[in-house]
Amino acid sequence: MRGITAFSAVAALWLASASTGIAAPSLTVLCGVDETWCAAMKTAYEAKTGLEISVTRKSTGDILNQIRAEKTAPTVDVWWGGTGDTHLQAGSENLLEPYQPAHERDMLPWAQNFFAMSGGRSAGIYAGALGFAYNADLLRELKLPAPTCWKDLTDVAYRGRIQSGNPNSSGTAFTTLATLVQLFGEDEAFRYLAALNRNIERYTPSGAAPIKAAARGETLIGISFMHDAVTQKQAGFPLVIVAPCEGTGYEIGAVSIVKGARHIEEAKRFVDFALSPEGQGTGAASGQNQVPSNAKSTLPLAAPDISMIKMVDYDFATFGSPDERSRLLRRFDAEIAATN
Ligand code: F6P
Repeated sequence: MRGITAFSAVAALWLASASTGIAAPSLTVLCGVDETWCAAMKTAYEAKTGLEISVTRKSTGDILNQIRAEKTAPTVDVWWGGTGDTHLQAGSENLLEPYQPAHERDMLPWAQNFFAMSGGRSAGIYAGALGFAYNADLLRELKLPAPTCWKDLTDVAYRGRIQSGNPNSSGTAFTTLATLVQLFGEDEAFRYLAALNRNIERYTPSGAAPIKAAARGETLIGISFMHDAVTQKQAGFPLVIVAPCEGTGYEIGAVSIVKGARHIEEAKRFVDFALSPEGQGTGAASGQNQVPSNAKSTLPLAAPDISMIKMVDYDFATFGSPDERSRLLRRFDAEIAATN
């Protein structure tokens, strides 16, 4: 009887997929970049391979949580995009499969270093600097001073007028937290965050949401990666983009194969595509402005010039380690988020 029931269930599933024409995807990708780029990558990869793949956008911390929760029965094959220190944490937790991508030799030095640091489990696909941007029309209307430094953002004039991501879900916001710790020292960074918190209108789940809100005048200032601000500016919104005077941090966006991936060969093929000039070109083609990691890829014309920005020597190993990341997030929740 049980055999018949199981057979009926399989037959019903087969009939359902045959009648709807929906085939199971040959690869499941969680995508950490902007939705527009996720969709462009899916289209380009499917056109190239003739395969149907599933691509879902999530924020970096949410992807780590999903992969961790599914450790014994992974449903995801590839984690593409999102900030690299969180990929490093997943690697340290033994959640990723090592793979030597076909294009690794063409990577820029920062990406080669990142690959080595990950123990061959995550490859760098792009880089981008952190900053903030304000809505110039709203600033003028409100007759407020223009902020140029991190410390300016604690000015009482901006009370309730700043958005930032929540570092538990957003890789952008975790980069902000780690950047401030590296710039000011941990205790001073937390004093700064407590002062900033008084001006924070909302901690958003995703890292680009604050800049999209500032672009549309829903808030005055958004803290985000500068490349996301450039994309909004290119769309015609009145943003002024700021590289903070004290200096700032940056991300290396990464791609990794999930340990126990059900479609391992297809996952490797996707990673090779993600590191190829053709795959990386889908970013610029969909209006994104990160710096690609492959030396043969074309740099988006408006990509912020990282070499011109005062940058901290970002310590990916420390801030990508499970203990340090979890400790800082706990401190953020207890001392900052709890009081918002
Ligand atoms: O919007 C693109 C992007 O800024 C990437 O460069 C980055 O890796 C990712 O978003 C981070 O997203 P989140 O902060 O939502 O985790």
